[in-house]
Amino acid sequence: MSFKKNVELNDFRCDASVPLTDSLHKDSRDKFGPWAPCQGSKMLTSGRGPLTQAEAIVQMNKFFDNYYADLELCNPILTKKVRVTQALSTMEATGDYEHTAEELSWAAKTAWRNAPRCVGRHLWKTLTVVDARKASSCRDVFDAICRNLRVSYNGGQVNPSAIVFRQRYMEAKDTPGIRVWNGVLLAFAGFEKENGDVIGDPKNVYLANLAKSLGWKPIKEGNFELLPIIITDANQNTEVFEIPNDIKGYVVDITHPTEPEITKLGLQWYAIPSVSSMMLEAGGIQYTCNQVAGFFQDTEISIMNLLAESRYNLMEPIGRALKLDVSKNSTYWKCTVATELTRAVYHSFKLARVSMTDHFTLSDSFHLFMKEEMRTRGGCPTDWLWVVPPMSGGLVPTFHQEMLRYTLSPSYEYQPGPEMFFRKRRNKVSFRALATTVMKCLEMMRERFKERKRATIVYATEGGTALSYARTAESLFVKAFSASILPITSITNKDGLQKCIDCSDIVIAIASTFGEGGPPSMAEEFHRNLLNKSYRFDGMQFAVFGLGSSQYIETFANFGKTLDREMEIGGGTRITEVGFGDDQGNQKLEFDNWIKALYEKCCKDYLPLSGRPQDTAIEGATLDKVYRWRYSDKRSLSECFQEEIGPSEKMFEFTVKAKKSLSPDGASEKYYLLTLSYNADPKRDMLLFLPGQHIGIFPKNLSSVKEKIVRRLSDVPFSSIPLIIEEKIAIHEPWRQWNPNYSGLTIDEFFGNVADLKQIPANLHETLEKDDKNGENGHKTSREDQLEELDSAKFIGQIPTIKRRLFSIASCQNDSHTLNILIALHEFMSDGKMVRGLTSDFVRQAPLGEKIQGYLSKGDEQMRLPQDSRLPLLLVSVGSGFAPFMSFIDARERAARTGIKTGPIFIFHGCRYKEHDFLNSLLESAATVLNIKTFRAYSRSEPDCKKPGQNGRVEIKIEAKKMFKKSRVQDLVAAYSRTEPNFKMPGQNWKAVRKTGLTTVLAKKGYVQDLIAEQGEVVARVSRDGGYMYSCGGSEAVGGVRGQLEKTLLEQGCVSLQEMMCRKRYQEEKFG
Ligand SMILES: Cc1cc2nc3c(=O)[nH]c(=O)nc-3n(C[C@H](O)[C@H](O)[C@H](O)COP(=O)(O)OP(=O)(O)OC[C@H]3O[C@@H](n4cnc5c(N)ncnc54)[C@H](O)[C@@H]3O)c2cc1C
Ligand SMILES: Cc1cc2nc3c(=O)[nH]c(=O)nc-3n(C[C@H](O)[C@H](O)[C@H](O)COP(=O)(O)O)c2cc1C
Repeated sequence: MSFKKNVELNDFRCDASVPLTDSLHKDSRDKFGPWAPCQGSKMLTSGRGPLTQAEAIVQMNKFFDNYYADLELCNPILTKKVRVTQALSTMEATGDYEHTAEELSWAAKTAWRNAPRCVGRHLWKTLTVVDARKASSCRDVFDAICRNLRVSYNGGQVNPSAIVFRQRYMEAKDTPGIRVWNGVLLAFAGFEKENGDVIGDPKNVYLANLAKSLGWKPIKEGNFELLPIIITDANQNTEVFEIPNDIKGYVVDITHPTEPEITKLGLQWYAIPSVSSMMLEAGGIQYTCNQVAGFFQDTEISIMNLLAESRYNLMEPIGRALKLDVSKNSTYWKCTVATELTRAVYHSFKLARVSMTDHFTLSDSFHLFMKEEMRTRGGCPTDWLWVVPPMSGGLVPTFHQEMLRYTLSPSYEYQPGPEMFFRKRRNKVSFRALATTVMKCLEMMRERFKERKRATIVYATEGGTALSYARTAESLFVKAFSASILPITSITNKDGLQKCIDCSDIVIAIASTFGEGGPPSMAEEFHRNLLNKSYRFDGMQFAVFGLGSSQYIETFANFGKTLDREMEIGGGTRITEVGFGDDQGNQKLEFDNWIKALYEKCCKDYLPLSGRPQDTAIEGATLDKVYRWRYSDKRSLSECFQEEIGPSEKMFEFTVKAKKSLSPDGASEKYYLLTLSYNADPKRDMLLFLPGQHIGIFPKNLSSVKEKIVRRLSDVPFSSIPLIIEEKIAIHEPWRQWNPNYSGLTIDEFFGNVADLKQIPANLHETLEKDDKNGENGHKTSREDQLEELDSAKFIGQIPTIKRRLFSIASCQNDSHTLNILIALHEFMSDGKMVRGLTSDFVRQAPLGEKIQGYLSKGDEQMRLPQDSRLPLLLVSVGSGFAPFMSFIDARERAARTGIKTGPIFIFHGCRYKEHDFLNSLLESAATVLNIKTFRAYSRSEPDCKKPGQNGRVEIKIEAKKMFKKSRVQDLVAAYSRTEPNFKMPGQNWKAVRKTGLTTVLAKKGYVQDLIAEQGEVVARVSRDGGYMYSCGGSEAVGGVRGQLEKTLLEQGCVSLQEMMCRKRYQEEKFG
């Protein structure tokens, strides 16, 4: 029953306006009036089901009344009376009647005119209506839809159009009728990931899943993948159809005229809003399948689709990308985002020449239409909530206009989803029964958790690896134990340790080794107490995992071993053998295997049969984690790295100022000298580094490698948005941040600066390479899917992060704030392929001006020059091990140039080939003021001095003269380890000693150790004169040098190397 009085509708924008009068509402189908509850803000109704025949007859009569009233001036083929009689008799005979094509066309247009929620219906008369009632199979329907989409799109000049399929006949009223399941014909799919995140449009996850279950295979699961169309035909067959490629092109890239950050998001939207799930109800006939397409209003895309929280939810990401202050509402950042995105949408559609109206213009048009309808028709049913745009509401006339919402016939109606007809009735469970079951389950869970055994995981880490393993252990043990993690600092005092023992049934310690077989710095105090036997571990059931590096042969995982030993000596009981993980091998796999075996053992040994998981669950327990991206506040790379290195060091941004290759083309050993500049505050940063100190560098992945991988992951989030990664193993576990140091970075930074792309598992590398080759001829490999299955957060979460590398500073601090480093390109064969070190390759390829994140390392363990510059130095280096000595020589050279007396410097240097020897070029300047003697060993060289017509001596002489002509260098001694020395003299098996002016040349085929053995007197002289000895290079070489020095000092009757070390007169540094 309707409200029978006319209703006056005011326009509050202009006080003087004459109110509009609505009388049309008296025709409304719904209960309507002041006594009816206001449903103005109700969005969706459950939808209209099938009509009874009585309802259909009432509607049919009304339909013809209105139809013939509209056609008053025309000349219909049949008079109204004849037509109604005809329709009635068909209905009596069959239960149904059918519309003529003209009636159908009028019905669709008028339903649009009557649609209270449509703001664009002023165009109702121009609607093209396609009669597709002949289509019966899913394929027929799909083909008709595609044809009509092409006509509607019209090259971007969108034609308002409708297509109507066969009505639902009375005999089929218990079925959904012909149906398109999609809400709109062109829509983006939503893909739900394992972790609950959605890629694409969350609104369409259900449809995407349904389509997949019907056989749809999305090409990729991206943010803007057009959903296929799902159709149920009159026989209730349901099929899914991929949208044809040409129609897939009806999509507009969203760009912004002035804000590149919005353009960079790579947003898209489809060109036509073609509503496809509503029912056209006209004259008692229900057309369950029909589509109406107009064109978009800008805010429909920006506000309702891209910004809405339940949809793409881009408000905050865009706010951050635009660098707005998103911390509080009162900065009005949301308005800026809404405006800028709406501008972008409008701009993009115009750029693509696709029809689109801005919300101001459309509101004006609608307001005029409404007034005209009131004048000519006596009313205009309108839903204020829908026609007022979702932004700038108060700025458009419709906001100030009173409106009435009611339903006229013909109409577009919501209808129950097709699945409602297919769904089977389930047995109803009473609320009481359900509540009782839930309570019982909760009670049982509480009891089980109370009974749970407690596992405490203690970690000691320097670089974070042990902590990440501890987290993995926790995630595994939490399946059957009450598991928690503690840093070793919490058990450093005895009370803390006792509490840990009392509160734990088992303790798992995971610890790395640092320095010379010592603990990480966080465990230094614990380590001291441990060795002093200050702790008791009675009652503790423990297991230890030690992390280390097999490069440290003698001290491999020493701290882990010490922990394991001392815990047992202190009264603890070992659950299982200590485990080891070597960072030179597959440390993570070693840990995973160890922890899984431990978990299995602990479940079986510590848990009662009744309270433990089934054996299959224990054995099959997985360490696979799920990962997801989350938005976060933006942080700079340097902030993240600062957290990584801790507060005792300070991050700097270095710039590559100069780069020089020290090796000839084609050399097998390649060395580079880099000059880096940095910004320092001359007052605050007076002394930044001393000779012998290091810089730490965070290398970057090469952009070609990064891009290759990013291209292959289908779900990479928007590129300019700051993100964090969250992870968990067990479903019931809370999400936690994957690596808290790395938060607020963009996807580009995660792939460029955080994940070590050199450490991707070999099989994935192979896939990438194969794809690259196949990419050229367009084939895809079956293994390609491997990467696509990996989502991007998981990909990052599973590969190691880039660790900083240390480099000796090869110069002194200077006023121009520059420093040098000498880098050897790290090259080795892996699986038959040449692999390059991450940092050395990055540095090698870095162009001038490249920014490098790093810091000046303050570690105490670094080599230092003696205060007294008169003391002689013995420098033993292999390859880039010469780097720290360059800073020593630079310091001495500077001292000499200011008139300070400096002692002699003896350099024993080794490399593979004579051609790779870079000392000459590096010593040129220093040799003019310092007393330097060099001794060189080439381990693999055929001396190039052996040229036809020349003998080696001549060449060496020329070279030496050229180099040292101005110098005070006394002797030059060279050793070639694998050379057939052509200056081999009778009675001498390895050396040729010649005087070349001031220079003595000594050649030896061998290693630096051999030089030391030969030059015992030099070593003895340095020792006796109170000089300092240094050795630097790879750990093997440094070990060899130490052994030889020990021997030579003994042979020469000097103080032992041990004593030299105690007095810091022998210092060494291993590069790895
Ligand atoms: C205190 C200190 C000072 C240093 N100073 C310098 C310096 O001044 N100049 C300099 O050049 N270097 C220096 N280094 C070494 C430097 O830090 C790097 O380790 C080195 O440059 C290699 O780094 P990268 O990133 O290029 O190689 P990475 O990517 O780290 O590759 C090296 C890794 O490759 C693997 N690998 C190496 N060889 C093989 C092989 N044959 N088969 C399989 N895998 C292999 C190993 O896992 C190794 O850890 C110093 C190191 C330390 C600790
Ligand atoms: C400066 C330095 C010294 C190291 N000393 C040792 C050592 O003496 N013995 C050893 O086995 N490993 C040594 N390592 C290797 C680390 O123990 C190994 O890389 C470990 O995985 C680091 O784990 P973390 O990140 O948890 O600290 C050393 C590493 C560095 C960088």
